[in-house]
Amino acid sequence: MDKGIFITFEGGEGCGKSSHIKGLAQYFEGLGRECVITREPGGTALSEKIRDILLHAKEGSDMSPKTEILLFAAARAQHVEQLIKPALAQGKVVISDRFYDSTTAYQGVARKLGPYAVKWLNSFAAEGATPDLTILLDLSPREGLARASTRDGEASDRMGSQALEFYEAVRGAFLQIAKDDPERVKVVDSSGTKEETFEKIISAVEEKLDV
Ligand code: TMP
Repeated sequence: MDKGIFITFEGGEGCGKSSHIKGLAQYFEGLGRECVITREPGGTALSEKIRDILLHAKEGSDMSPKTEILLFAAARAQHVEQLIKPALAQGKVVISDRFYDSTTAYQGVARKLGPYAVKWLNSFAAEGATPDLTILLDLSPREGLARASTRDGEASDRMGSQALEFYEAVRGAFLQIAKDDPERVKVVDSSGTKEETFEKIISAVEEKLDV
């Protein structure tokens, strides 16, 4: 049986994760690999409910940063146990739209909760599920937010309605994560055309993984 492969995509709003994830899944399927596309927060019925609270519930409008990080971690714990680990054990390729680096960047840095709680919660929720490769799609927040607003119109969610400085902090945090863990996290410039970006993603995948 093939060995499971765990790939995560990270980046700010509007960086183009979803369309590249679909393209990468097709690439792996073309190689005869079974793929599971999933996302965070979400990926299981319970984690999708938590996503709804985090992003859309009107009761979440005054959510405290501590509540926020605990809900992201709760959604992740369920996702890892119910979906990610079983799929990897079956030799599948799991591609997740976001994982624990988002918690480090959004809650740890942009929400200023600091590295200690975040590190502990990330490892508690992920329980040893470590991405084999993380693609960080890097784009200036200004451009990303403009792309996201063209895509979503006025329908931005709670995490998508922060001030520009918040997303600048998120971007800086992601780049720092990549600097600290260059073996796992590959930075891909997402400012060019979709095709150019996808080519860079495939190069990163082929360079890092035995596919
Ligand atoms: P999405 O819009 O890319 O689906 O992601 C949902 C939002 O949740 C996005 O603004 C990033 C945010 N987020 C966090 O703040 N912390 C996390 O741990 C995760 C997974 C997402």
